[in-house]
Amino acid sequence: MADGSKNQANIIAVMGASGSGKSAWIKQQLRAGKPRGLLVWDPQDEFDEFGRPVSNMRELVQAVKDAPADGYRLVYKPGMAFSTYSGKFDVFCQLAYMAKGGCVVVDELGDVTEPSRAPDGWSILSRKGRHQGITLFGAAQRPANIDKDFIGNASLVHCSRLSYENDIKVMANSLGVPQQEIRDMRADETTADFDWIERAQKTGAVRRGKLTF
Ligand SMILES: Nc1ncnc2c1ncn2[C@@H]1O[C@H](COP(=O)(O)OP(=O)(O)O)[C@@H](O)[C@H]1O
Ligand SMILES: [Mg+2]
Repeated sequence: MADGSKNQANIIAVMGASGSGKSAWIKQQLRAGKPRGLLVWDPQDEFDEFGRPVSNMRELVQAVKDAPADGYRLVYKPGMAFSTYSGKFDVFCQLAYMAKGGCVVVDELGDVTEPSRAPDGWSILSRKGRHQGITLFGAAQRPANIDKDFIGNASLVHCSRLSYENDIKVMANSLGVPQQEIRDMRADETTADFDWIERAQKTGAVRRGKLTF
């Protein structure tokens, strides 16, 4: 992550069906990487252990402005009203981009981007954030249905079980593995068996593993 721990990737696309272990894997990366600055888009109320929960956008802007030089940890909750997400997400991304040097997590990207529609703030954050020293995690259940450039721009693509053929195709292509290998991945809650495959785009190195708790 951005703090110089062993994961040097700075744009991390985390793809997998609901319940396949995306959020759990991201949390493990955050615990291991201990980023100094952290801003989370947390629509499902799952990241409170990583920072101060904030559900008011004005408060979030102020909190970032007032952040001490040695870091900030803020977990933003966009609430239940989907119709308000696009405006909130644009501001969140602009704020994240200005906050420089920290780690940004966007969970459930499918709520806020489409293949043909990415808010300006997100476009800037995901395309230029790396030059600001930002580490960006973006998670989605349906890789075929999000901002089509995000996975292509990622330095690390991490994938867990997928259900839909369109998504399997997109990820087989991105990971450079046979579609069947993706189709065969498991996410079994009863046995705590959560397969993943990831590819470091710079080297093309592919790793396979299981999420362990
Ligand atoms: N600390 C843990 N110990 C055991 N199982 C866990 C733990 N954290 C999450 N899980 C399980 O991992 C599964 C995947 O959860 P999650 O990461 O939230 O999926 P996703 O974000 O892909 O929807 C869930 O079935 C959850 O019960
Ligand atoms: Mg999740």
